[in-house]
Amino acid sequence: MKQVFIKTYGCQMNERDTEAIRGLLKSHGYGITDEVHNADVILLNTCSIREQAEMKAIGKLTSLFQQKKRRDLLLGVFGCMAQHHGIELQKRIPAIDFIIGTEKLHHIADYLDRHFANTAVNPKGTIVDVTAEQDSQNKISTRDLKPGQVSAFVSIMQGCNMHCSYCIVPTTRGQERYRPMKDILDEIQYLIIHGVKEVTLLGQIVNHYGQGTFPMVDGKSPFVQLLEAIQGLDGIERIRFMSPHPVGFRHDLIGCFGRLSKLCPHIHLPLQSASDHILKAMKRPYSCDIFRQIVQRLRERVPDMAFSTDIIVGFPGETEEDFDKTVAFFDEIAFDMAFIFKYSPRSHTLAAFMEEQIAESKKEERQQVLLKTLERHSYEHNRKLIGTTQQVLVEGKAHRGESKFFGRNAHFRKVIFDGHPELIGQTVGIIIERASTTALLGKVLP
Ligand code: SAH
Ligand code: SF4
Ligand code: F3S
Repeated sequence: MKQVFIKTYGCQMNERDTEAIRGLLKSHGYGITDEVHNADVILLNTCSIREQAEMKAIGKLTSLFQQKKRRDLLLGVFGCMAQHHGIELQKRIPAIDFIIGTEKLHHIADYLDRHFANTAVNPKGTIVDVTAEQDSQNKISTRDLKPGQVSAFVSIMQGCNMHCSYCIVPTTRGQERYRPMKDILDEIQYLIIHGVKEVTLLGQIVNHYGQGTFPMVDGKSPFVQLLEAIQGLDGIERIRFMSPHPVGFRHDLIGCFGRLSKLCPHIHLPLQSASDHILKAMKRPYSCDIFRQIVQRLRERVPDMAFSTDIIVGFPGETEEDFDKTVAFFDEIAFDMAFIFKYSPRSHTLAAFMEEQIAESKKEERQQVLLKTLERHSYEHNRKLIGTTQQVLVEGKAHRGESKFFGRNAHFRKVIFDGHPELIGQTVGIIIERASTTALLGKVLP
């Protein structure tokens, strides 16, 4: 049996795609290995969002190239970087056998089959397949759950129609395409049968799901209809989604919180900057005040709602005053968590050509300041929970210590406690005894 090793970079969508590829390859008779040295095929699922993400994959490819010189090994690249650079990648690293774009993932197994069937006849030549494919969003639904897996990602759409001036995703993932609701619900039924209790719906702008393609019903968007349908599925206990966009976070979606009992009281809502002037330059079509109003309306419905966000520091033209607004907004909203990125110029994006690019050292400095602000709030949120009992969906063994297990509360806070394997998949009460910025520690309620 030929063995395949897959390394994944990038976002949750890539994680989900890798799972689908694993399932697909297994159904074609391939083994999946965690040991690079055992692999006959090495595949990298890549990301282009920041230069650093690309550099990591290029570094890996370069070292794999050295291995390939020593032994018979197939090397494939798929995902956003494959889509972005296509044949150029092969010019840089000639040893690549496959370059497969984001709309062609589901052909990987066929390409491998053909290669192994034909090696004697057609041994070499890079295969590059990065063209668009009609309905590709519907073709990557294979699953490969881990034993005891409790929580699963479900990609409900692909692509993005926005034009944020810094972002490469519309180039790498194409136009917005939605999966039919029935396919998504069937997939979730499959997950339920296999023990999954929590689903996280994925899309670049997940609340755009079905917009302009599927009808509104009783004033409810297709995304809200989907949430309601999942609420009705026995076996699913928790529903999450990411990432929504402030544009399109309307009253019908806000009204789901506090009404749909399975919808968790945590939202990851990317802000990017709290300065309107920068939001405009980023071509993000909302103001800081619109964002504030969404948070307020959600907190009116669910007072202890948790929020996390994405921020880019050092966007071209970001002044100290702009940055100070973001810091002040962190104090106002008190985010639980945030991904704080240093702006990275990407080819084919408007912002890369803007004047007033910010020095790396300044980006670094702003990232550190904002991280410190964030840590203060994260710790404060966690500290307040000491002494309370949190309902935790137990996901598995924690890395630290034999008897340590972990799970999350409904607000997405990580909880670590002494437990035993039978607890995996159950929601248990944990009394919180200690807190750090990133986790809560406690013990099972006797
Ligand atoms: N579709 C999501 C974001 C997907 S990309 C949304 O619009 O909310 C994830 C995050 O990467 C973005 O929210 C942004 O904060 C960050 N990002 C995207 N392009 C970037 C760039 N060129 N430099 C730095 N960070 C970037
Ligand atoms: Fe990128 Fe903007 Fe689309 Fe998000 S909404 S994926 S940041 S272009
Ligand atoms: Fe990266 Fe592509 Fe995701 S660029 S962040 S892997 S959509």
